[in-house]
Amino acid sequence: MALILAIDTSCDETSAAVVDGQRILSSVVYSQILIHKQWGGVVPNLAKRAHVERLDSVVANALKKYNSIAKVTDWNGSPEYVEKIMHSLDAVAVTYGPGLAVALEAGIVKAKELSNRYHKPLIGVNHMEGHIYSVFMQNRNGNPERPFQFPYLALLVSGGHTELIHMKGHRTYELLGETVDDAGGEALDKAAKMLGLGYPGGPVIEQLAQEVHNEDRYRFPRPMAKSKDYQFSFSGLKTSFLYFLREMGEEEKNKNLRYLASSFQEAVFDSILLKTERAMKEKGLNRILVGGGVSANRYLRKRFRRLVRQYQGEVLFPSFSYLTGDNAAMIGAVGSIMFEQKQFMKDPDALEREPRLLVASSA
Ligand code: KG4
Ligand code: ZN
Repeated sequence: MALILAIDTSCDETSAAVVDGQRILSSVVYSQILIHKQWGGVVPNLAKRAHVERLDSVVANALKKYNSIAKVTDWNGSPEYVEKIMHSLDAVAVTYGPGLAVALEAGIVKAKELSNRYHKPLIGVNHMEGHIYSVFMQNRNGNPERPFQFPYLALLVSGGHTELIHMKGHRTYELLGETVDDAGGEALDKAAKMLGLGYPGGPVIEQLAQEVHNEDRYRFPRPMAKSKDYQFSFSGLKTSFLYFLREMGEEEKNKNLRYLASSFQEAVFDSILLKTERAMKEKGLNRILVGGGVSANRYLRKRFRRLVRQYQGEVLFPSFSYLTGDNAAMIGAVGSIMFEQKQFMKDPDALEREPRLLVASSA
């Protein structure tokens, strides 16, 4: 497969990687979480500044790590050595959307610069396709073995997206449904904020819920449960959670944080699973891919495994923990397939950010 240097700066991780198809040869992810934590969410201009400041060293580190495996040359960090390593690669891939406009721009500028300087084709990658391909990634020895067996039903759940996609072949998608308001991860983040648990909310809610064995004590409403489509909605659930907390009062709330977290999480996951199961039945699909930040949740993984068992199917999640969040390796995997498909930018300078890019538009 093609050797790709990939860059992703779509949100709050600055990342670069070198991949050979699905194989990750090097991966560097610099998280900005500590910068944004104090503001309770991602601040675009701070994200941009951090990307610009860090990108050179993140790219250099990814090349250095790749070189330590590929042994293209003896590393000493000088421009000639970087040039030698760059010449051993086939192309540069970069996320051009969806994401925060100013953050995307930082990666695009860097990728254009590298593509021009080293005369490498430039490939613009859709970040959501990256999350889909993240479940197929392997270490440099090709483990775990993950052959493609189309078709799949892909569910992407992160802080910005909740999408159900019918994947018919390589890079061929039909968007079945998406959220009409908040994303699944965003709902968890907002609930965590209401409970005074900080940002990001997903991991801490998972932890608290697990402490009470994921008991569904309060049984909040399951949004869109009755709608006969594949859409998701979490804002009604959020509002009913808010009213419930007000009614309950501060003292009771603090006494019952675990049960509140657990019941909220259960409502979010139930509606995700409900729509996934509907699509499985109606589209006759039993191979599921789950990607995006929320796919890190072990309880969600367990529930998906239970679901697919009923349909003699299988479910795949990203194998390495850093692949659930944003990372450039998954962008490289898509870039590698696009390279085989000869989908380069004819004019690298023409690549523009598309903050609202849809996954279905890349079919
Ligand atoms: O994909 P991601 O890193 O960033 C984007 O939004 O693109 O996803 C972040 C989201 C946040 O909403 C976070 O709360 C959620 O993923 N998340 C989790 C877990 N880890 C991260 N949600 C549930 N359980 C987790 N363990
Ligand atoms: Zn993402």
